Amino acid sequence: MRPETIAIHSGFDSDPATHAVAVPIYQTAAYAFDSADHATALFNLEEDGYLYSRISNPTVAVLEKRVADLEGGVAALATASGQAALHYAFANVADTSNGSGGANIVATPQLYGTSHTLLAHVMPRSGVMARFAAGDSAEAMAAQIDENTRALFCETVGNPAGNVCDIEAIAKLAHAHGVPLIVDNTVATPILLRPIEYGADIVVHSLTKFMGGHGSAMGGILVDGGNFDWQAQAGRFPQFTQPDESYHGLVYAERFGRAAFTARARSVLQRTTGAILSPMSAFLLLQGIETVALRVARHVENARAVAGFLKTSKHVEWVEYAGFPDSRYHALAEKYLGGQVPSLLTFGVKGGFEAGKRFYDALKLVKRLVNIGDAKSLACHPASTTHRQMPEAEQRKAGVTPEAIRLSIGIEHVDDIIADIAQALAAARAGGQVLRAAE
Ligand SMILES: Cc1ncc(COP(=O)(O)O)c(C=O)c1O
Repeated sequence: MRPETIAIHSGFDSDPATHAVAVPIYQTAAYAFDSADHATALFNLEEDGYLYSRISNPTVAVLEKRVADLEGGVAALATASGQAALHYAFANVADTSNGSGGANIVATPQLYGTSHTLLAHVMPRSGVMARFAAGDSAEAMAAQIDENTRALFCETVGNPAGNVCDIEAIAKLAHAHGVPLIVDNTVATPILLRPIEYGADIVVHSLTKFMGGHGSAMGGILVDGGNFDWQAQAGRFPQFTQPDESYHGLVYAERFGRAAFTARARSVLQRTTGAILSPMSAFLLLQGIETVALRVARHVENARAVAGFLKTSKHVEWVEYAGFPDSRYHALAEKYLGGQVPSLLTFGVKGGFEAGKRFYDALKLVKRLVNIGDAKSLACHPASTTHRQMPEAEQRKAGVTPEAIRLSIGIEHVDDIIADIAQALAAARAGGQVLRAAE
């Protein structure tokens, strides 16, 4: 099936009990056992089924199957948020118990601010270090890999930088060093890019964004591509190839084969730390995903028009948008996105930080908030919000300058979006003139 069809049908036909066509919201904490033996088989992971919603839930399972199919993966684990999914992905791969004395993840510098904080400041406290490359090329990442590296990580399209990573080259590099490539595909969505087809091993999403699309439910997911051979790298990844004492001596790579990564993330990390997606949120996200292909097409079209408008505006200093032929990411956007550039763009208002703030305050239709991928157009000032914890030098490496405004272009009529941006630019300029006259 094609993505448009998968997004509507995958994982659910109709409810066997009631013939309901909408996915039922199984709002239950637990599930009855037929017998003690049935319970034992479920607990031992010998039989498929449900036992407790901190481990799995039928509504959430439909979402997991649907996103796994959209990405072309073999299994998925949905989580309470995108950050939870990233944390589970990193913690699952970077195990420090093999006596090596440490584990690290090599990442590109252009990351969503909180993902950067997780890697740079939070995970190191439990022994997993991050090594940030100087740029997003495979060569820059290669320079950071050492014997303790357990994964490479990048955003397929960076938030907010809008950089497009060379997934194929980075996946080859990861595999040459015997480690998987984990990617965050939140901004591109599987409608524009399916990273597993280019060699990525684990795909993570914040479903809060374009996938859900309505900005009313938080959620995350990690999808297992099923192609990484944990047995072949047993020395680096004992957590998948050695008996797990916390689970009756189970060996994940043996019992779950290609789905070992998600099975362990579920049975070890989610079971013991519990960042689960609620069935209600899974239902809301499924409603959104049904229309993701239509929405993304409109997002892309509107963003192209807004980028063109900004480029010709005399009030705008610069515009970063990979759809421009002179963008350094244009060739990669052609290769990986078929020229369909996601609706995330950044620009600088002429007049620097203060003019940027005046522009931001003058917006009427476009919402001032810290989210992306909503049906509504959204604007954010990363330097004072999403990336504020980073020193300015690190912000610049992440593609954030003090005056930069990030726009997530929605699916309203494009004339209304452009009219709002035009009036806010004019207000920013007029405000500056009033200030200068008063000096
Ligand atoms: C690229 C990217 N990854 C992950 C996240 C985190 O997702 P969530 O807010 O659902 O935890 C975000 C949030 O903005 C994001 O933009």
